[in-house]
Amino acid sequence: GMPRRRVAVFGAGYIGLVTGACLAELGHQVAIRDIAPEKIRLLRSGEVPIYEPGLGDMIVRNKERLTFTLDLDEALDGAEVAYVCVDTPPSASGDADLSRVWAVVKSLEGAAHLRAVAVKSTVPVGTGSRVRSALDAAGLAHVGYASNPEFTAEGTAVNDFMHPDRIVVGASDEATAALISDLHEGVDGPIVVMDVRSAEMVKLASNALLATKISFINEIATLCEKTGADVEEVAHAVGLDHRLGSHFLRPGIGWGGSCFPKDSEALRQLANNTGYHLQLLSAVIEVNNLQKRRAVQKLKDELGTLAGARVALLGLTFKPGTDDMREAPSTVLAARLLAEGAEVRCWDPMGRPADVEPWSSTTRYDTPELAMDGADAAIVVTEWPQLKEVDWARAASVMRRPVLFDGRNLLEPAGMRALGFTYLSVGRP
Ligand code: UDX
Repeated sequence: GMPRRRVAVFGAGYIGLVTGACLAELGHQVAIRDIAPEKIRLLRSGEVPIYEPGLGDMIVRNKERLTFTLDLDEALDGAEVAYVCVDTPPSASGDADLSRVWAVVKSLEGAAHLRAVAVKSTVPVGTGSRVRSALDAAGLAHVGYASNPEFTAEGTAVNDFMHPDRIVVGASDEATAALISDLHEGVDGPIVVMDVRSAEMVKLASNALLATKISFINEIATLCEKTGADVEEVAHAVGLDHRLGSHFLRPGIGWGGSCFPKDSEALRQLANNTGYHLQLLSAVIEVNNLQKRRAVQKLKDELGTLAGARVALLGLTFKPGTDDMREAPSTVLAARLLAEGAEVRCWDPMGRPADVEPWSSTTRYDTPELAMDGADAAIVVTEWPQLKEVDWARAASVMRRPVLFDGRNLLEPAGMRALGFTYLSVGRP
């Protein structure tokens, strides 16, 4: 049928591709623009440069309504809404680096036919008003501005977009709020309209609170280890209180990924810039760093020394279901193990770490079993379901020392010990 609206999406990364594909699925005509020729070439040839379940199928299904381009004019041709989906990596100071956002905003000069600019990139509170001023100065005072933060998680992004807990639309005028809300017709979730600054804050506050829950349960796990309680029992029962909720109470070796580390640091920096120091958030970040140090310490305590030890890292991505290595705890573990003189061997079904330190000093194996063959210890770093299928009895027999630190509490302690493992996990007796 007729496309409902024309939308230009800037950035063909995780957020841009998911947003663009889902908007096309909702019936809009979408042009996704990126400045990386290789990405656009891949997308045009029908390939998706990232691994995200369901995304490739959705792109194919909507190819009539979805174009990929390097060309600015082609992207903006007839567009009513420009979606800013570029990344905002941390800069050296801890503040988010907004240079890519500004480059997009600058490129909109002259696009007088736009009705709104919507920002999905995670930005510091107050960015919207700066973009507003830039648009005004560029003769685009009639173009509305909206903050429309994204809450999708990697691995489930397509489903999260189509069935969100909420859609947050921050806009300074009703027409823009209505336009952005209308774009989401067909999405199964409530729309919450608010001012721009509040919408910007919702994103940062949500991620910080999720990270807080994880750091909290990780600290309780440490205390469980010292007191003989079982954190799995504790987390389950705590989570049954609906005021607290059962999500994000899984203990582990710490949180990573493209959002939590960056956004928590950006929120801390945002607060510092106002002269207010966020005490709780600082502790949440520190606990997360400590959690990774404790993982290596546990092995060191068990093996006596890590010098000369062969250690297998099972799972490298920051969580299963993605190929994303950004801020993955495995990178910190690998670096520390190498610094302690260990030999690091690794396995991951999707993650392809760049060939730089620490990864260039490690050896990759095609299966967990091969990575463990002859090893002195193994660490379950990422809870890939494949690890449940490992022949652990055989693994125990081919390891030089059957020491296993299950950093995600993926396996059954009693069963693993019965197979002969010295089995360590997080917060379980
Ligand atoms: C997160 C938010 O969930 C999402 O709303 C936001 O838009 C982007 O950031 P994502 O980074 O894809 O999404 O991953 P998520 O599944 O939230 O996991 C983040 C990290 O926390 C991972 O390293 C994961 O292993 C860890 N985690 C998560 C835990 O250690 N315990 C938990 O209970 C949950």
